[in-house]
Amino acid sequence: MRIAVVGSGYVGLVSAACFAEIGHNVVSIDNDPDKITALERGEVPIHELHLSELLDRHHNHRLRFSTSLGDSIRDAEAIFITVGTPQSETGEADLSYVESVAREMASALRGQQLVVEKSTVPVNTCDSLRRALVLNGAPSQSFSVASNPEFLREGTAVVDFLYPDRIVIGADDEFSRTVLSKIYAPLANGTYYRQREAIRLHNGVYDRAPIIVTNAKSAELIKHASNAFLAMKISFINAVANISESVGADIQQVCAGIGSDSRIGPKFLNAGIGYGGSCFPKDVQAFRMVSEQCNYEFGLLKEVTKINTEQQRLFVKKVQSALWTLRGKKLGVLGLAFKGETDDVRESPAIAIVNALVKEGATARAYDPAAMRRAADLLPKEGMTFASNPYDAAVGCDALLILTEWREFAALDLERVRRALRHPIVVDGRNLFDPEKASRAGLIYYSIGRPACMPDRSLLTGQEEDYAATSHRIESPLSAGATS
Ligand code: UDX
Repeated sequence: MRIAVVGSGYVGLVSAACFAEIGHNVVSIDNDPDKITALERGEVPIHELHLSELLDRHHNHRLRFSTSLGDSIRDAEAIFITVGTPQSETGEADLSYVESVAREMASALRGQQLVVEKSTVPVNTCDSLRRALVLNGAPSQSFSVASNPEFLREGTAVVDFLYPDRIVIGADDEFSRTVLSKIYAPLANGTYYRQREAIRLHNGVYDRAPIIVTNAKSAELIKHASNAFLAMKISFINAVANISESVGADIQQVCAGIGSDSRIGPKFLNAGIGYGGSCFPKDVQAFRMVSEQCNYEFGLLKEVTKINTEQQRLFVKKVQSALWTLRGKKLGVLGLAFKGETDDVRESPAIAIVNALVKEGATARAYDPAAMRRAADLLPKEGMTFASNPYDAAVGCDALLILTEWREFAALDLERVRRALRHPIVVDGRNLFDPEKASRAGLIYYSIGRPACMPDRSLLTGQEEDYAATSHRIESPLSAGATS
């Protein structure tokens, strides 16, 4: 089928490349000429597994790029809108980019075409989109509007697209249902997975994508409710982790116990410094605003956000408690991205934490495998340096902080880390290490929701032993909260 994708950001570019991969002829449109020129030159603007491979494979065959919306959508059978819906000052989703696309698109629509809303939008946006198109001159018989929310995680977006848990088709008429079903047929009937060159799923068997057909409003709600639920799961486990730490339990054992209940499941129960990124913080807030507009006070969502913010403050307190005071302390920082395997730093808890620590008078030496360039603009100019590898970040530091769950960090040689540090203290905001291993490597190891671990004394120098002896107790996160 002929597909146009309006907006070549994370969602748009991945969707365009994947639609081409499953056999469609795709044009990816963006109004930023620099972005389109770079894509035409073969540059890939985002760090996303398999994306370069797909762009290489399909560019100038089934995939092209354009800055011209009007010309590019004229022949398209389906036009996906994937422009940003940032958070406005009031917390609602700002739909002005969607509206401006609708305005520009209206005069170019002709014949039977399907306009699909794929960006995350509040419920009722399909109705508003329909109205905006007609208001701006599109003949109402010439198009249908449907919702097809994306559930792509950054870092695994290509695989998430091609091997989805579900594809939601939110259609209010037969035409929309038919077009969207045809577009996703290679995934729904499994023909894609049998192709020799298909991107493979490394673990697990997968033979067809489940399709859920709903009306447009339900599809819009599914997206907001899914993200809000996932954010709630993280805040819930973080709250439990704080209690676990206070009473000397182990959050990982608690999670194994909770997660083995099939109604709860083991995923998305990693305690840490809270969620970030371009979706969860904004979507929880936007969903709350939707509920307000429905005259429903969804207080739970307020609490989800509050716990998440509090989690960062408690981590700063934990570092302070481990070091006694922060002023003049040199901190190694591993991780700046909002999660592992991405260069995205939007709403990253790591950035908020580093800023807070430097504001308290500490200096930071940070390393992130992909996000340092993007992070530099959001970090203090003074009191901040960047390292060339994780061990380099630790050299001469009073403590090493783990702020992003990069796989690379989980594989660090902890003895080498200890040798690089000035004091053998690691404060792990992502629970990447086994406390016993950290102890055997001679580290004083603090993590989230687990008891602090002291080093095996035989490994310490005299001075380190004195230090460890005075570090045996860190305030529990809850008493740290109470004293602030
Ligand atoms: C999310 C949704 O997962 C995706 O379906 C949606 O379409 C877009 O938003 P993404 O923002 O890429 O995707 O990140 P995700 O992998 O979901 O992680 C979000 C945040 O939660 C990260 O900061 C991560 O570190 C944190 N997280 C995740 C936890 O703290 N604990 C967990 O158990 C899981």
